Amino acid sequence: MGFDHPQWEMWSSSKHGVRYLLKQQGILPAESAAPKCQTCHMQGGNHEVRTGWGFLAVRLPLPEDPQWKADQVTILQVLGVLDPEGKPTGRLDVVKAGDVARLTQEDFDRERKKMVDTCSQCHATKFAEGELKKAEDVLREADHLLAEGIRVITGLYQDGTREQPESYAFAFPDLLTFHDAPSVIEQRLFEMHLKHRMRAFQGAFHANPDYALWYGWSEMVRDLSDIQRMAVEMRAAKAD
Ligand code: HEC
Ligand code: HEC
Repeated sequence: MGFDHPQWEMWSSSKHGVRYLLKQQGILPAESAAPKCQTCHMQGGNHEVRTGWGFLAVRLPLPEDPQWKADQVTILQVLGVLDPEGKPTGRLDVVKAGDVARLTQEDFDRERKKMVDTCSQCHATKFAEGELKKAEDVLREADHLLAEGIRVITGLYQDGTREQPESYAFAFPDLLTFHDAPSVIEQRLFEMHLKHRMRAFQGAFHANPDYALWYGWSEMVRDLSDIQRMAVEMRAAKAD
C-alpha cells in the first residue's frame, strides 16, 4: 500500500483478488482457485519475495532490443548506478549488497521460471509465459516514456537553461532525491518514475489492466507532455 506500493489495491481489484474476496465471503465455493500474495511470492513458504524485475524494474544484462537498452541505460544513469559514460558507480555495489536487482541472466531466469511454475498450477504454461511477456512489453514502452522525460530535463542542464543542482553528481536528474527534487519539473519526473511507471508495469504483472493503463500508462503520457511543455516555457523565459 502507499505511493509506490499499490500491489494490494492492484491485486484486490484484479480477477485473482476479486475471486479471493468472494471466496472469503462464501459467495464462491471454498475450493475455488484464487491466488493471493503468498501463492505467487512465498512459493513453498519461501520468504525471499524475490522477482525477476525486482522492485525498480531494472536488471542486468541489459535488454537486447536497442531502444529498450538505451532507455534502461538512461534510467540506470538517473538512478546513479551508471555514470555518464555508462560505467558502474559505487551505487552498483549498494544494489549488489542489498540484492534489490537481478544482475545476471541466470538469476533472472531462475526467478522467471519460479513464477511461471506458480502460474502453471492454474493456467497453461504458454498462457502464463505470454501474460508475463505482455507485462514486459508494457514495461518496455513505459521505460521509453520515462527515458524521454529524463532526456528533456538533461537537455535543460546541458544547454544551460537550468543550472544543475549542486547536490547532483552528474549533469542529469537524480531520481533518488525523491521528494527533495529541486523544482516542479524534476518533481514531476520523480512522480512519473516512482508512481506512474510503477503502476504501469506492476499493474500489468498483477493482471490488472485498469491500473496498467489508467493509473500508469495514461498518467505517464501526460507527465511527458507536461515535462516537454515546461521545458519549452523555461527556454522561452530564459531567452527573454
Ligand atoms: C498471480 C500471481 C501474483 C499475485 C497473487 C501477487 N503477485 Fe506480486 N508479482 C507478480 C508478478 C508476476 C510480479 C513481477 C515478476 C517479475 O518481476 O518478473 C510481481 C511483483 C511484485 C512486486 C515487485 C517485486 C519486488 O520484488 O518488490 C511486489 C512488491 C509485489 N508483487 C507484491 C505483491 C503483493 C503485496 C501481493 C498481494 C496483495 C501480490 N504481489 C500478489 C505476481 C503476483
Ligand atoms: C491458484 C490459481 C491461480 C494462479 C496460481 C494464477 N492464476 Fe491467474 N487466474 C486464476 C483464475 C481462477 C482466474 C479467473 C479465470 C476466469 O475468470 O475465467 C485467473 C485469471 C487470470 C487472468 C485474467 C484473464 C482474463 O480473462 O481476464 C490473467 C491475465 C491471469 N490470471 C494471469 C496469471 C499469471 C500471469 C499468473 C502467475 C503469475 C497467474 N495468473 C496465477 C487462477 C490462478
